[in-house]
Amino acid sequence: MNISFENKVALVTGAGSGLGLATARAFAESGASVVLADWNEKTVHSAAEELAAKGHKTLAIRCDVADDAQVETMVQQTVATFGQLDAAYNNAGIQNVLVETADSPRDDYDRVMAINLRGVWSCMKFELQQMRKQGSGTIVNCSSLGGLIGGARRGTYHAAKHGVIGFTKSAALEYATRGIRVNAVCPGMIQTPMSDKMIAEGQGEELNAMLKAYVPMGSRELRYRPVDLNRRRLRHALKKEINHARNGALRNRGHPF
Ligand SMILES: NC(=O)c1ccc[n+]([C@@H]2O[C@H](COP(=O)([O-])OP(=O)(O)OC[C@H]3O[C@@H](n4cnc5c(N)ncnc54)[C@H](O)[C@@H]3O)[C@@H](O)[C@H]2O)c1
Repeated sequence: MNISFENKVALVTGAGSGLGLATARAFAESGASVVLADWNEKTVHSAAEELAAKGHKTLAIRCDVADDAQVETMVQQTVATFGQLDAAYNNAGIQNVLVETADSPRDDYDRVMAINLRGVWSCMKFELQQMRKQGSGTIVNCSSLGGLIGGARRGTYHAAKHGVIGFTKSAALEYATRGIRVNAVCPGMIQTPMSDKMIAEGQGEELNAMLKAYVPMGSRELRYRPVDLNRRRLRHALKKEINHARNGALRNRGHPF
């Protein structure tokens, strides 16, 4: 299927690495002008330069999604540069410190919630203000398998990702009749720097056990493959409801959408 995003403007947060970078590439290769945002200035600039060198229209923005003022500026810069905002993938996220709930540090809770939940709220808020003016737009929020199930020692991350689904469903109801779609994706395990770090920290066996418990079609050992999005998957992400039913199968195929 040939999907074109010609004359569309797409914004991706956490675009300096992993799923965000793969999504930014897929948007660019499908013809969109792409705004890559990340709090890591170095990686986001080099990602945007790589795409620009291939002839794609890009804008790199240093933005910490936990900072409302920076998020507002990110959306303003997007519109000032490209005139509109058609699609946004709110993807930036981090893991919590792995400890059981009784030992969970308050500052880790605040840090994870500020990025994984309030960051998504803040991005949606300012993106929706622009999309409401336009009367059109599409938002995809990045939740997780962790947004659908519990996970020992991962309570803060899972709670934040559950919250992303709550915000997504509520905003979807608000804007469905006004030309704006809001969806979420719930990836299983995808090989990215985030999952590499989890494996390196010795979490491989625990993650395998969790996935085995939640993949109804039977389990395989964790086999990561690098993220490789194509246009069909991207379109799927922008059009479909939360992808939880097929999560296990998607995990085994090594892509998030
Ligand atoms: N990799 C997986 O297996 C997996 C599974 C389910 C969900 N997810 C979710 O997918 C998203 C992307 O994860 P990934 O695996 O690509 O991780 P990653 O660590 O490779 O990429 C995350 C990116 O987000 C950026 N980022 C982090 N905090 C930020 C902030 N406050 N403001 C702006 N940018 C920030 C990082 O600099 C990085 O570039 C996350 O929300 C993660 O929770 C990942």
